[in-house]
Amino acid sequence: MSGVTTGPLTPQDLPRAAEIQATAPEAWSLSALEEEQASPCGRLYGLWQEGRLVGTAVFQLILDEASLLSLTLEPACRGLGLGRRLLEDSLALLAGEGAAFCYLEVRSQNRPALALYHRLGFEETGRRRGFYQAPPDDALLMRLTIPPRA
Ligand SMILES: CC(C)(COP(=O)(O)OP(=O)(O)OC[C@H]1O[C@@H](n2cnc3c(N)ncnc32)[C@H](O)[C@@H]1OP(=O)(O)O)[C@@H](O)C(=O)NCCC(=O)NCCS
Repeated sequence: MSGVTTGPLTPQDLPRAAEIQATAPEAWSLSALEEEQASPCGRLYGLWQEGRLVGTAVFQLILDEASLLSLTLEPACRGLGLGRRLLEDSLALLAGEGAAFCYLEVRSQNRPALALYHRLGFEETGRRRGFYQAPPDDALLMRLTIPPRA
């Protein structure tokens, strides 16, 4: 995957990250991203293609538990393996900080996201009925035991 890099987002990356977020169903605003980045638990990562930010991932890390709060690729860059690359690299960085588990919630009808999470070994641990609005959907709860230095 030449020309692709991943790593932590800087404060200067956040306006572009908010543009990417705006293309997702549960979009994070710029101020929400800034607030999360300022939090001691917030971990924000990006994926750059030929130097252009095209993907963002927002996590919280508390002790050895990471929570994936958002994973979004620019629409033109979806389905190319980049979401997988961003998630794998982010998990490796989190593992380097001691994360042993990753938790997430996902719409039960979100096929691309579910395919990605299952591919990486996430297991379904529960369902919150009617959790999402516009459109209504259940949330699936998923958990991954992160391999050391994933
Ligand atoms: C979900 C998302 C991050 C996935 O990233 P992506 O770059 O499109 O996914 P990838 O190309 O890395 O594909 C990962 C896996 O999902 C599968 N997949 C991708 N798009 C798919 C689709 N439309 N339908 C079914 N499976 C799909 C791929 O086959 C791949 O599996 P494989 O490795 O076994 O071949 C991206 O589609 C996105 O930003 N969606 C909008 C925001 C969103 O819904 N985020 C998740 C909220 S929890």
